[in-house]
Amino acid sequence: MLIKIPRTSKLTENQVTDEAVYLQRRQLLKKMGFIGAGALLSGAIAARQAQAGIFDIFDDDKPKEVPLKALDFTKATKPYITDEVMTPEDKVTHHNNYYEFGAKKSQPAEYARGFVTDPWYLKVEGEVNKPLLLDYDALFSRFPLQERIYRLRCVEAWSMVIPWIGFPLADLIKQADPKSSAKYVAFQTLYDPERMPGQDSRFLGGGIDYPYVEGLRIDEAMHPLTMLAVGLYGKALPGQNGAPIRLVVPWKYGFKSIKSIVSMKLTTQQPPTTWNKLAPQEYGFYANVNPAVDHPRWSQASERRITTGGLLANNRIDTLPFNGYAEEVAGLYKGMDLRRNY
Ligand code: MTE
Repeated sequence: MLIKIPRTSKLTENQVTDEAVYLQRRQLLKKMGFIGAGALLSGAIAARQAQAGIFDIFDDDKPKEVPLKALDFTKATKPYITDEVMTPEDKVTHHNNYYEFGAKKSQPAEYARGFVTDPWYLKVEGEVNKPLLLDYDALFSRFPLQERIYRLRCVEAWSMVIPWIGFPLADLIKQADPKSSAKYVAFQTLYDPERMPGQDSRFLGGGIDYPYVEGLRIDEAMHPLTMLAVGLYGKALPGQNGAPIRLVVPWKYGFKSIKSIVSMKLTTQQPPTTWNKLAPQEYGFYANVNPAVDHPRWSQASERRITTGGLLANNRIDTLPFNGYAEEVAGLYKGMDLRRNY
């Protein structure tokens, strides 16, 4: 159950490519469906960014002007892995919680079919010295990609083991140069009821007050385990899993891992979060996986691990503190009463 962190988790010089390899890699990503028409839009984006007063503009059409160092995707590092059986891809992509596309587990795959994610803009603002606006292309090419195999534990007491592709959230936050006043990060999902039918349907959308919002303390956001995922099982994220970019915080209940993010704002105050607003006595801000603190309506001591097909194969296993990542993250909560800060 332990996470293995091989020494190779540190990037070595030969894993970092020069511009020629970077361009080859872009071709590869293009073939894999990672890069779309976004690159063609960079002129319009630049104009929009200039209008919005956002600087550090990233123009991906001109890599020479941007001295990027990127990993060859085929050699993506695998800094965090587990030897547990992975959840099959069709389960990962057809048993979803994504209320914007329907509150039943099978609905997101159905209603997110054809969800257009290019163009896309993710802004990073608030208590930062360098606000950023990343376009669709930048999400996939600005940071070296890694594959990380993480456990995902839902507050509903089921879990999966998923090979994500993405990069540490800290990499992005560092580029925005946070001010010392930044204590939290507030995340927001796209709000577009025309494209997300659950957002204006009580029937589909489960009565959530949209847009879906989440938050982390800044030290949680900067923790090396916290990642932004752009893919899973070696492909771009499907709509139902949060395309084009989502958060993955493996030691917290799954609802913290907000999907289809358009905004990250560094703040001085703890931001409101969707499930906490909906039912504060059931869902806290921290939402660390904790087998010792039950949900008011069910036990959190064990979970149904979704592996291969068939009900019998859905193993029930003990839930571990911090979802098995205690060694890495328990120190973040030293001295805190985890029963009160659930
Ligand atoms: N993000 C948004 N925007 N809307 C949602 O409904 N559901 C959350 C989280 N992120 C949700 C979301 C919940 S409850 C879980 S368990 C995970 O996404 C599920 O991720 P998955 O469908 O990729 O397994």
